[in-house]
Formats: sequence, C-alpha cells, structure tokens
Amino acid sequence: MARLKIAVLISGRGSNLQALIDSCAQPDFPAEITLVMANRADAAGLQRAADAGIPTQVIPHKNYPDRETFDSAMTAALEQAGVGLVCLAGFMRLLTPGFVEHWRDRLINIHPSLLPSFPGLHTHERALAQGVRFGGCTVHFVRAEMDNGPIIVQAAVPVLPNDDADTLAARVLEAEHRAYPLALRLVAEGRVNVIGERTEVSGAPGHLSTQLNPSD
Ligand code: GRF
Repeated sequence: MARLKIAVLISGRGSNLQALIDSCAQPDFPAEITLVMANRADAAGLQRAADAGIPTQVIPHKNYPDRETFDSAMTAALEQAGVGLVCLAGFMRLLTPGFVEHWRDRLINIHPSLLPSFPGLHTHERALAQGVRFGGCTVHFVRAEMDNGPIIVQAAVPVLPNDDADTLAARVLEAEHRAYPLALRLVAEGRVNVIGERTEVSGAPGHLSTQLNPSD
C-alpha cells in the first residue's frame, strides 16, 4: 500500500516530531514524512529531521507582511512536496481561516490537554490551578478556532499531589509521544471519518484504541 505523504510543522524542540520520525521508520507504518517545515531557523527539531535524512524547509514568518502571505507560502511549499496530510507539532503560529479551510480534514494538531478543557497557552498551569485529577493530550483535526476540532485520539495521565507545571508537562509529553503516532496511523490507514464535529474510527481493534489511559 502506498504510504501517505505527510509534512510536520514545528517551531521548537521537536520531540513529537521525533516520535513521528521513529514511527514512520517502522516498515509497516502507513505514512512517511516527506518534509519538515519550520517558521524559525533555530527550531531544534530541524536537526532531528536532518539526522533522519528528511528534507527540511524554513519559511520565516518574519519575512512576510501578514499571516495570509505567510500561510500561502507554506501551502505552496506543502503542495510542491505532494503532501497529503499536515501534522502540527509544536507549531507556534496562528493559522489563517484560509489555510485551515484549504487543508480541511488534512491538517491535524496535538495539544497537551484533554480538550475542550484548557486550550491555548499555559495549559498545565491552568489545569493545576483548577485542581483537575487527570491531565492528558488530544490529537485533533484543526478548525479555525485555536485548539478546536474533531478529536482523533486522547491520552489521559494522572495529576499527582506534588505536581508542578513541569512535572505534569513531562508526564503528558510521554503520552503525546504515544498518542500522536497512533492518531497518524489511524488517519493514514483511512480509518478516521469526520462526521460533523466528531470523528468515527472504523476497523480499529476496538474503540479503546483511540483512548490511551494511565494504566495502559
Ligand atoms: C507539545 O506539548 C505539544 O502538545 C504542543 O507543543 C509542544 C511541542 O513539543 N503543541 P515538541 O516540540 O514536540 O517537543
């Protein structure tokens, strides 16, 4: 079966990118990363891509007069690379409605909370301030509203009594590294249908495969 060509968009460290690189290196994985794109030349994840022999491209947002022209430049590069799915992985730019619509249901993101709780920045601080008992992460299709859209996979982790934002973030990040490859696999296998603002996942081995829990 032909593997789905994906691009991963990053702005920084790239640990989720690394999880996707590692998954795509498995012979039976249904996706391949054809391009890693960053909006900053100093994004550390670019080196991860280079080490894996994956083409990289930097499109500095500062070189563009507005979000529309920046997003158009990204779309042109993504289409040039023949990308069928765009994966945001710590990409720290707001996307225009035009970009989101162009890539509708071909654009996914990972966010370090159990959406729709705690979208946006400082998610762990806000979760701790609310005294939640579980944190986690969500992989979802992107819609114009930030950190919003049909959910593909969620992973839950416990919040422990002495957690601070860093310890909680580290626990969630481990879950992210399992959730993102799982979601990508399901999408690349064509198992994920968007129906309204929800997804239905077909043919996966039981509905539990879109939920990762602390005990897993
Ligand atoms: C992750 O926590 C991701 O959920 C959020 O940004 C962070 C990126 O981390 N969107 P990394 O660059 O993948 O290490």
